[in-house]
Amino acid sequence: MLFETKQHGGHYSFMEAWLYEHIAQPSVQRWNELLMEGPLAELPQGARVLDVGCGGGQLPVMLARARPDLLITGIDISPVQVKRALKRTAKMRERVTILEGDGMRLPFDADCFDAVISVLVLKHFAEPDLAVAQMQRVATPGALLLMAEVERGRPLDVARNFVRGMRLPWWMKPFALPMFYTFVTGQGPTKGEAEDWWLALEGLTATKVERLPELPALLLTAKRD
Ligand SMILES: C[S@@+](CC[C@H](N)C(=O)[O-])C[C@H]1O[C@@H](n2cnc3c(N)ncnc32)[C@H](O)[C@@H]1O
Repeated sequence: MLFETKQHGGHYSFMEAWLYEHIAQPSVQRWNELLMEGPLAELPQGARVLDVGCGGGQLPVMLARARPDLLITGIDISPVQVKRALKRTAKMRERVTILEGDGMRLPFDADCFDAVISVLVLKHFAEPDLAVAQMQRVATPGALLLMAEVERGRPLDVARNFVRGMRLPWWMKPFALPMFYTFVTGQGPTKGEAEDWWLALEGLTATKVERLPELPALLLTAKRD
């Protein structure tokens, strides 16, 4: 492990889930759109997709709406988030399954997903190597593995682009940028740290670390060998 994750056990409480959903998630939707236009646009027909740390289920919903052919499973360690995701996907139950569970101990057989994605969860894993090993285990050979996470050390202007998309009450606005810069992006890896870690992992091909345009976001992608 080449960077120390600082928010482990990031099992969201009721308050964290509420704050995330109502304040931060509206800005994450832009990331999700970029993922949908980018690597997720290439998902094969009928693919089985696993979203590790699916939170309130926003990305599973987006995927299910855009691609009626996909079978989507979301898993999250927080019962509060699972409840939100179950509610949000209630009308999609034939194609979207939501479960409570730990990304570092995935309760699935080997080789059963054609893509495994995880957005904004990497900084919460106490053992990121174990989380990726689990993602690899449940993925089929050639499957897409994708992790997106905040990037530490980007210029303030880039962080400001993210903060602008947040739904902030007026009284929080003066503090939002320094707080986001310190307590959110400050917890992620730098691009160099992400590269040192991701590009050295075994059992993956086509490993890449890229930035999402104009956002403090890193995109780590690979194919399972
Ligand atoms: C920042 S939120 C991201 C949620 C969602 N992926 C999104 O982009 O909106 C992080 C989520 O990871 C979940 N989480 C943290 N550690 C986890 C673990 N070990 N296994 C599964 N989920 C985890 C939290 O409960 C929370 O819902």
